[in-house]
Amino acid sequence: MKGLLSLRTLSTDQIVKIIDCALRFKKGELKADYAGKRMVTMFYENSTRTQYSFQMAMLNLGITPIAFNPGVSSMTKGETLYDTVRTFECLGADGVVIRHSQNAYYRDLEAIQIPIFNGGDGISDHPTQTLLDLMTIYEEFGKFDGLKICLVGDIVHSRVAHGNAEIMQRLGMDVYIAGPKEFVDGTGEVVELDDAIKYCDVINALRVQFERHHDYMDMTAADYHARWGMNMQRVNKMKKGAIIIHPAPINRGTEIADEVAECAVSRICAQMTNGVFVRMAVIYMVLEGLL
Ligand code: CP
Repeated sequence: MKGLLSLRTLSTDQIVKIIDCALRFKKGELKADYAGKRMVTMFYENSTRTQYSFQMAMLNLGITPIAFNPGVSSMTKGETLYDTVRTFECLGADGVVIRHSQNAYYRDLEAIQIPIFNGGDGISDHPTQTLLDLMTIYEEFGKFDGLKICLVGDIVHSRVAHGNAEIMQRLGMDVYIAGPKEFVDGTGEVVELDDAIKYCDVINALRVQFERHHDYMDMTAADYHARWGMNMQRVNKMKKGAIIIHPAPINRGTEIADEVAECAVSRICAQMTNGVFVRMAVIYMVLEGLL
């Protein structure tokens, strides 16, 4: 299959090349024009950043984005994901971006010939989020090897945590996790947040995914914030030079305090900006046959 479905199947060299390409787009050293091409964003789960930064990336590359709205589509009449993607292929789309609640939904799409870009699948993977996290970390530290990152909070429901951990370890980073016992799994070594802030270079404050918990989270947002949230007291104890990242959307007052969201060590806005360049890089490298 063409496109970018997961970083797990790419070599470390290919991942580094995508980040390098994104940095070159950001610096204006690389330009591309695919005027006349059209790509479809197909988001079966809600999204602000991924959907619209893919659209921004397409516009920056001269590609016309088409936003598919599942709620008013023939999906409501029983059309399958495969049949919808195949329809866009027949209509002349040059690629699709898909977010879906099913892990590895793309296994149903093996007959599709146009590139598929994974905008997040279930709790499995979010490759362009991992790439923009890596780009932001690289911009800050100029390296990956030897850096320590702590993923905090809702690891078990997080496609970001699951996607990030394996790739960051491959790049030489030490990955730790911290959070309530219901939220941690085998993604990394479990540590105490109040220790991790003193030795980690990056704190990734994950969103508490209220929409995936239904009714089993047995603490209030205030309780969670006191125990696992990034507040100014914790920021003031962070390792010198360390940064906070967050995939967003943020739950202010739960995993991150209002005043921390845009504080001096927060890189949340940089992540969102870098998301456009990473998605330009991914589209460019796929269309040029480099991935
Ligand atoms: N980080 C992220 O995937 O955000 P969206 O859900 O808004 O796309």
